[in-house]
Amino acid sequence: MIYLDGNSLGLLTEEAESAVLRTLSEWRELAIHGWTEGMHPWLFLAERTGAQLARLIGAEAKSVVAMGSITVNLHQLLATLYDGKGKVLIEHSAFPTDRYALQSHLKLRGVLEGLVAVTPDEDAVEAAFVTGEFSCAVLPSVIYTTGRLLDMERLTASARANGVVLLWDLAHSIGIVPHPLDAWGCDAAFWCGYKWLSAGPGSVGGLYLNPRHQGNSPGLQGWFGSRKDALFTNDETLQPAEGAARLQLGTSHVLSLAPLEATAKSLADRGIERLRQESLALTALLRSEAENAGFTVITPREDSQRGGHITIQHPNAAALCRALRAHQIIPDHRPPDLIRFAPHPLYSTEEDCKTAVTTLKMLAEQGTFETEASLIP
Ligand SMILES: Cc1ncc(COP(=O)(O)O)c(C=O)c1O
Repeated sequence: MIYLDGNSLGLLTEEAESAVLRTLSEWRELAIHGWTEGMHPWLFLAERTGAQLARLIGAEAKSVVAMGSITVNLHQLLATLYDGKGKVLIEHSAFPTDRYALQSHLKLRGVLEGLVAVTPDEDAVEAAFVTGEFSCAVLPSVIYTTGRLLDMERLTASARANGVVLLWDLAHSIGIVPHPLDAWGCDAAFWCGYKWLSAGPGSVGGLYLNPRHQGNSPGLQGWFGSRKDALFTNDETLQPAEGAARLQLGTSHVLSLAPLEATAKSLADRGIERLRQESLALTALLRSEAENAGFTVITPREDSQRGGHITIQHPNAAALCRALRAHQIIPDHRPPDLIRFAPHPLYSTEEDCKTAVTTLKMLAEQGTFETEASLIP
């Protein structure tokens, strides 16, 4: 099988598999003592995993914690960093859950009309920032439809210059694109673990909180955001942990944190710069092969503007994707007309990329994809 869907669900790695099996045996052998005993006490797993994730995003370990999902982490960051005054910027092709989370947060605060969508383009976003009307913005590092990587450094600088707290959704870049969040002075970021991080379906995600915000009280409180020595003191008020760890809510999801710790470490050991170079070589090849084959590629040509996947626009995208699957090639379809190919440097080859495009061309030219697609439910 040629798997080109690492930006939706990364494949199982040996490291992830053994981490899950090890955690199961810890559960069996240690039971409740697994929280505090053994080689890998679960009580500190979220922070330990955060430290590995921090290596991928150029952050201090204490600024990162592994927790929640994108949706939950966005709610938490909004509650912690947005003061309810001023407009909030989003881009008009934002992923549904980002938009829904923002809508409900602003509705709770009674300021729903303050949510404004702009074109996902540096000039348009900057033009909005300089109006002085915005106090918060949520942007994706990589736009999930087009695969375009925004200029995060430029937008972060612009947001700071204009008093906007900018929250980055790193769903499509963490683990594949280097972005030094501390050096750029980003306010905060959040992500999931099941895409490029290959930590498994529905695995735990994470968030980054810049040191200048680490004195903030958590907007949403839960006992796992306490200092570890205060977990059971039953104080009248929460005694927040140091750093990003204070934004945790309930008990850590140990079985789905274990694979994330393992894969974040193995990706960081390989080196995010190396992964980026390998990924760029594969997406450049895919892009030129697809263009030479006559397809409309909507992902930018410039390396600096590409994330880890390329997107082809085709009126028969859905049927073509089903037909590709019948040929043991796994793409990703985004309705109505997008085909995404996401090669992963850990397991995709140049040959995979070429075969995917040749097969797609053959299917599109033969026009037999409707019949072939019917082979797949
Ligand atoms: C940009 C982006 N945001 C959010 C999500 C999903 O959020 P969650 O992890 O909370 O399900 C996805 C999933 O594909 C995504 O691509």
